[in-house]
Amino acid sequence: MMDTKKSIHGEWSSDFGFILAATGSAVGLGNIWKFPYIVGENGGGAFVIVYLACVLLIGIPIMMAEIMMGRRSRQNPIDTMVTLTAEANADKRWHYVGWMGVIAGFLILSYYSVIAGWASAYVVKNFTGSFSGASPTDIKIIFNNFIASPMQLIFWHTLFMIATMLIVARGITGGLEKSVRFLIPALFVLLILLVGYAMSTSGYFQGLRFLFNPDFSKLTGNSVLVAMGQAFFTLSIGMGAIMVYGAYLPKDVSIAKTTFIIAGADTLVALLAGIIIFPIVFTYQLQADSGPGLIFQVLPIAFGNMTGGWLFGTLFFIALVFAALTSSISLIEPAVAWLIEHKGLSRQQACIKSGLAAWALGLITVFSFNVWSDFKIFNQTLFELIDYITANLMLPTGGLCIAVFTGWMMQRQHSEKELALPSDTQGYPLWRVVVRYVSPCAVFLVFLHVTGVI
Ligand code: TRP
Repeated sequence: MMDTKKSIHGEWSSDFGFILAATGSAVGLGNIWKFPYIVGENGGGAFVIVYLACVLLIGIPIMMAEIMMGRRSRQNPIDTMVTLTAEANADKRWHYVGWMGVIAGFLILSYYSVIAGWASAYVVKNFTGSFSGASPTDIKIIFNNFIASPMQLIFWHTLFMIATMLIVARGITGGLEKSVRFLIPALFVLLILLVGYAMSTSGYFQGLRFLFNPDFSKLTGNSVLVAMGQAFFTLSIGMGAIMVYGAYLPKDVSIAKTTFIIAGADTLVALLAGIIIFPIVFTYQLQADSGPGLIFQVLPIAFGNMTGGWLFGTLFFIALVFAALTSSISLIEPAVAWLIEHKGLSRQQACIKSGLAAWALGLITVFSFNVWSDFKIFNQTLFELIDYITANLMLPTGGLCIAVFTGWMMQRQHSEKELALPSDTQGYPLWRVVVRYVSPCAVFLVFLHVTGVI
């Protein structure tokens, strides 16, 4: 009966459509905004290596597991957990995994929209020529003045959230596929262009050395946790986003192949962003550990100084906003799908309710950059705290549960059939060993390490 199931929300038009949508979800602020600043805060090369290892050993197998679960049940993550738990005869407490995912999605979206709002404001700032000929100090002042203004941040956060709600209200298998189709190539072209600029700067090799030359003495237990959290965040796994996309995946598409393509494209974009940012940082003697403002203080320097910078800068921030949109919709879709399937709301109503809730929550992030910037818990602002709890704790915990559930609870024949890996490659036994032992142990060890137990 399971085999003929389809989602009530429709299906992607092809495997290419799914790859586009899932890559759209994966590639976003995580790659271009977050990756560079956490690499900068955590000392460079060694952090990058841990991050890459986490993508390979934890991220890719868990992404396959999530897509597989979604496609098997063809429902939102909460009901997917309910259906698959019943099918596997497992303990009902597994249902919490779906709930935790929806909550994590809300919390992430709340601040994601605020930062995407910054990127939107930077489209206009660049377009109106604020950066042309500006010095690094001018650019820093522009940024600091901008985040000091709650009204401006709220304005852009509101616009971005409305855009997200409008797209999700139209159903994500419709317009989404088409917009990603031109967006991803456009983003690549602009990134390559910026790499060209970075290569022309005097700090190019210093930047590359910072990014790729590991100095393991700079790695703390906390850095390892942040690197692992980033692997989850950037691949959109651990909370059901990719699961819900898997629910719309046609039956005959290879999950393994698509996963490798998505993770490969995502990793490439993050590394390109690093290759662009750090040479500029060192050329202009900026601080690599400037935090969440890093790209907003660094990229305008390039755009203000390169020929055609006005045009490329505007196009770049537009592409960044679109990349953020194709990600934000996947953060809210699990909740929306649940409200529709379970509570009988129309898609429009579901979008308005969940969008409004995430918007209101986003105000906490807005104020944490200005009026509440001195309010700290565990030495972190409220934005930093929400980011830390979601990316570094909730997503890995969700991922750990997904690995254990698919590896130990689900019947082998079910996961084997759904993944449909070619039998001559040993792909299935390898995946199974990894989700049963390697990924859960890795997550667990990192958790123990950061708490100081080992
Ligand atoms: N991966 C996106 C990025 O890197 C953000 C994102 C979208 C996400 N959906 C997610 C993160 C689900 C965690 C979980 O920008």
